[in-house]
Parts: sequence; structure tokens; C-alpha cells
Amino acid sequence: MRLLTAAGPLLTEHLGAHGELQLADRQQLLEAVEGAGLLGRGGAGFPTARKMRTVAAGSRPVVLANGCEGEPASGKDALLLSRHPHLVLDGLQAAAHAVGAAEAHLALHRGSPALPLVRKAIAERRDRATVTLHEVEPRYVASEESALINHVNTGVAKPVFTPPRPFERGIGRRPTLVNNVETLAHLALIARHGAAWFRAVGDPEEPGTQLFTADGAVVEVPTGTAVRSLLDLRGLQAVLVGGYFGTWVGVAQAQDLVLTHRDLRAAGGALGAGVLVGLPATGCGLVETARVATFLAAENAGQCGPCFNGLPSIAAAVRALALGPWDDRTMTDLDRWLGVLAGRGACRHPDGAVRFVLSALTVFAADVVEHRAGRPCKGVHSAPVLPVPLDGRSWT
Ligand SMILES: Cc1cc2nc3c(=O)[nH]c(=O)nc-3n(C[C@H](O)[C@H](O)[C@H](O)COP(=O)(O)O)c2cc1C
Ligand code: SF4
Repeated sequence: MRLLTAAGPLLTEHLGAHGELQLADRQQLLEAVEGAGLLGRGGAGFPTARKMRTVAAGSRPVVLANGCEGEPASGKDALLLSRHPHLVLDGLQAAAHAVGAAEAHLALHRGSPALPLVRKAIAERRDRATVTLHEVEPRYVASEESALINHVNTGVAKPVFTPPRPFERGIGRRPTLVNNVETLAHLALIARHGAAWFRAVGDPEEPGTQLFTADGAVVEVPTGTAVRSLLDLRGLQAVLVGGYFGTWVGVAQAQDLVLTHRDLRAAGGALGAGVLVGLPATGCGLVETARVATFLAAENAGQCGPCFNGLPSIAAAVRALALGPWDDRTMTDLDRWLGVLAGRGACRHPDGAVRFVLSALTVFAADVVEHRAGRPCKGVHSAPVLPVPLDGRSWT
């Protein structure tokens, strides 16, 4: 364990465990991040050093930590921020130093359980660095990076069309480095211990440890860990890997799957924010998918036609597939909508929703046949497995 030490959230406890953050020369720090091969932990796995170098080359850059954790089945960022807020704040300070930023921001969803501890931690280190805390509407797409920047700039947490990307023009139209809070916590440790230390564990191409939320429990393991080490696969029919931006994986395939971006991409999936949820053999993957598709449709920000109209249509078709009534045009329509939606929004929300539903149609293909024939299994009546917190709310 590297991030999740036994130390508590107070500054004295943090300093007792990690010592003071001594920041090297900017170039040396950038080289250390590059040498460490740190990939972002917010979902896409983008190389952190590459983003930092672009931002560092711009004028009057800004840094923004993304602690919103919009993924309903994820708990790792809230746990990290509650237990070790100073590690994240050290990382934010190191990121600001590396890119030459004089301004640092931290965004959390309104109502996040981590907020009181984060507020206290920011106050405790007021003499070290100033961080502006933002409370963002707790919506799925509000934590997408362009939405966060829009929130800071205008108060509205809706995504905007890019380019320009945040690292080109973000907060106050200045180049902005947006990083997930786990990414920043790793950065705080790289700044202390160096690249070789960081690379000493994990997959050589995607080094280090990573936080995963497996059936609601947060664990820190080396990258490249097998799914079967984190979830007991006995009694499961499938595993959701990567959260609602990820894919279903059948249990046979999950047996040999290891958790890297490379392996998940090769399997047609996405590692996302490190979420794993097991679906018991007694459940129904189509019903679970219909519930999440309904949630994702309600979470669209209502500003791009294809997403605004397409996601609710897809959700309605998946609901019909799961629970009826069924008619043969539903499948034709669903296939067509799934084929045209990806890449049509300001943000990648529709892309994620399409990938998630497509994976269900593949992994639960035998169930699709049974449901279409009017023979759904008993699983349609079982208790929900995937959390769906904001069912049916509209944007305010
Ligand atoms: C719909 C949507 C929701 C997102 N929600 C989050 C989130 O809750 N937390 C997060 O860190 N990144 C989220 N992201 C990714 C961010 O846009 C951004 O890429 C990330 O914060 C960059 O951090 P990283 O480079 O450290 O991974 C989301 C992306 C999309 C498309
Ligand atoms: S693609 Fe959808 S969620 Fe993203 S900005 Fe457009 S309407 Fe909003």
C-alpha cells in the first residue's frame, strides 16, 4: 500500500507518515513524472507528464483537482480525500509547481462525504498554499473536465464543445491542468520518492498502484492485478469493469482478465475509474443495463441533440428488451441508434453509454434471445445490483 497508509487525515498525522513535501526544480519534477510513467486515474489513462508539459508551456497556467467522483459505483476518491486529504493537496501543490501555476482549485460534488475533511485540510495548510474549493452539482456529466471549468468560469457545470481543450484554454481562458485526485496523490509520492520508486511495482507500461472499488470496497493494488484477485467470481455470471463508462465482461473472460488499460482495450472494454461490480448468476444483466441506461439518459446535459434525444430512446429500447412489451422494430431501432450516437456530443457521455449498452447486448446475447421470445429468467425480479442514485432527475 502506498496511498492508503494508516495515517489519519490531520496535517500532523500526514507529516508523521510522509514528511514535508520538498519540491525539486520544476524541470526535474516534470522529468520524474515522465520517468514514472504516471497515467491519469480519472478514467482515460492519459499520460500525466504530457498534459503537464503542454500546460507548462502556456501563459499563466492554472491547476484543478477533480474530486467529484461522478461514477455511482466508485468510492475511491471519497475515501482518499477523507482519509488522506493532505496527500491530494500535496499533489495539487506539486502539480502547480511543475507547471508554474499560481492558482489551484479543487472540485467536489455538493454533498460529498469528504467535504468537511477537505475543508479542514485546506484551512490547516493555509500558510503553505491557497486552494479554492468548488462544490459542483452532483450530476454524472458535471465532473467532466470542460463542465468543471465551465462551472468555475460561469457557475454552470455543463460540458462545452472542445477544442480548445482545457489544457489550451480553461479557467479564466488560461491553460488548465485538470487531474483526478488519485493521480495527484500518486504525484505527491513521486515528488517525494522519485520515478524508480514509483515504477518498482505494477505493470511496466502502466506502472504503480491503483485504487479500485470492487463491489463497493476500496482497495489499492499494483496495476496489472487480475480481476479474480479482487472479486470472488464464483456464483457470478458477469462483471461490470470500469463503471458506467466501462463494459460488461462475461465471467469466463473475467477469469483471465488483468486490470490495465491495455488489456481492457484489447478486450473491447475500458478500465475507467477502476470500478468492478459482480453480477450474481441469479440477477438479470438486461434489467441492470436498463436501469443504468435510464440513469445515463436522465444525466445528459440537455444541450446536444443526438445525446438529448438518442440516449432516452436507447434507454427505452433496453427497458423494453428487459421488461417488455417487445416488438421487432425495437431491436432494429436500438441497433441503429447505437451505431450513430458515439462521438456526436460535446462530451464523451454518449460514447460511454453506447459502449456500456453494446457490451450488454454481447455478454447477455442469450438472454436477449430469451427475452425477445417472451421467456425472461427469474432474475428480472431480483434485487438491483448496480447503484443508480439520481433516477429521473432533470437539470435545474
Ligand atoms: C461524463 C464524464 C464524467 C467524468 N467524471 C469524472 C469524475 O467524476 N472524476 C474524474 O476524475 N474524472 C472524470 N471524468 C474525466 C475528466 O473529464 C478528466 O479527463 C479527468 O479528470 C482528468 O484526470 P486524469 O488525467 O488525472 O485522469 C469524466 C469524464 C466524462 C466524459
Ligand atoms: S454530449 Fe450529452 S452530456 Fe455531453 S454535453 Fe452534450 S448533451 Fe450534455
